[in-house]
This record gives sequence, C-alpha cells and structure tokens, in this order.
Amino acid sequence: MDSEIVFITGATRGLGLGTEKELLKQGFKVIMTGRNKLDLQDSREALRSDGLEPHILQLDVSNEEDIENARNHVQQKFGKIDCFINNAGIIIENDFSFSDLPKQKIFKTIETNALGPLGLMQSFADLLATSKNPRIVNVNSGMGSVTEMVSRIFGPQKRSLTPPSKEGFFRDGLKFPW
Ligand SMILES: NC(=O)c1ccc[n+]([C@@H]2O[C@H](COP(=O)([O-])OP(=O)(O)OC[C@H]3O[C@@H](n4cnc5c(N)ncnc54)[C@H](OP(=O)(O)O)[C@@H]3O)[C@@H](O)[C@H]2O)c1
Repeated sequence: MDSEIVFITGATRGLGLGTEKELLKQGFKVIMTGRNKLDLQDSREALRSDGLEPHILQLDVSNEEDIENARNHVQQKFGKIDCFINNAGIIIENDFSFSDLPKQKIFKTIETNALGPLGLMQSFADLLATSKNPRIVNVNSGMGSVTEMVSRIFGPQKRSLTPPSKEGFFRDGLKFPW
C-alpha cells in the first residue's frame, strides 16, 4: 500500500520537528516545510542521522507567493495530501502590555496563526480532496480554548481555524471522516 502523505508547516524545530520524526518512523511520507532554507537542510540532516528521509519545501505561511509555489510543487510531485498539519505559530503578546502591543506585531500574529493557514487550506483543498482519508490537524493551544479566554490576540486566532477546517470543506461537498 502507498504511504500516506503528511504536509506540515513550521516544522524545522520544536513540536513540528518532533511530530514529523514520529510520523516518519511510522512510515508516513512527510513534507517538512519551514521558512528558512538552511534550517530546513539542517533539520533534514538531523533526521537523516536517524535513518529518516523527509521531503523539504520552503514555505513562509504568511507569504502568498510561497503558498502558490508550495501548492504547485506538491501537486506535481505528489498529486495529493492525506494529512495537512497547521503547526507554524507565533506568540508575541506576552512580551507587552495590551496598550503597548505594536500594531505590526498584532498583524504578524494574525497573518501567521490565522490568515496564512486559511489561505493554505484553500490552496490545498483539492489536493486533500484527492485523498481517500483526508485530515486537517490544527495545532491549537489551551490559550485557544473558548472557556479559557486568557489570551488577547493569539487565542482567538488559534480558535478561528476550526470552523473553516470543518464547515468550509463540508459545504464544498468534501467528505471528511469527522
Ligand atoms: N510549546 C508549547 O508549549 C505550545 C503549547 C500550545 C500550543 N503550541 C503550538 O504548537 C505549535 C508549535 O509550537 P512550538 O512550541 O514547537 O513553537 P516553536 O518552537 O517556536 O516553533 C514554531 C515554528 O513555527 C515556525 N514559524 C513561525 N512563523 C512562521 C511562518 N510565518 N511561516 C512558517 N513557519 C513559521 C517557526 O519557524 P522559524 O524557525 O523560522 O522561526 C518554527 O519552526 C504552534 O502553533 C504553537 O502555537 C505550543
């Protein structure tokens, strides 16, 4: 049976790198994406030293040209995605009081945690639809919980990915197993 293909954002370090290591060990094909080419190469080398081989792809989730290039590359090379993991994320608000939060930092947080992932999911929707078992995994946070309400900018953006991941695709007639 063909291996399932996992696409993961912001995966050159942290939870993303750990996740893809486990997925590779379990036999998935992994497309590791990150915004810095050198970091991607370094992380691939680290995985290779464990006998694992990810496919690497440069992608800043807040850059529309990167998104289009990534989508075209994946379509030509793989033709589908089985599992799409929105892992890339930033949090900056803890460094500032609310009144001092610079607007450009607010915009960057929204671009990285919400607008970019939404654009990505739109671009990759048809590649996910080609899978027999499509999944979207949005890496959330306790701060993204509706009941917690502890975050001013980060939490609401994290929450914002769930409805389009589910309803947006359902209404287009794609069959997701949830
Ligand atoms: N760690 C926690 O305790 C925790 C708790 C709850 C939720 N989370 C969530 O888990 C996810 C991973 O967190 P982490 O702790 O592993 O964070 P991390 O170590 O800071 O890693 C974040 C990753 O996101 C990437 N990234 C940032 N902006 C990006 C962009 N515009 N385009 C592409 N990639 C971008 C970073 O790339 P660079 O290396 O280029 O900066 C990095 O690889 C995040 O969504 C975070 O919100 C983490």
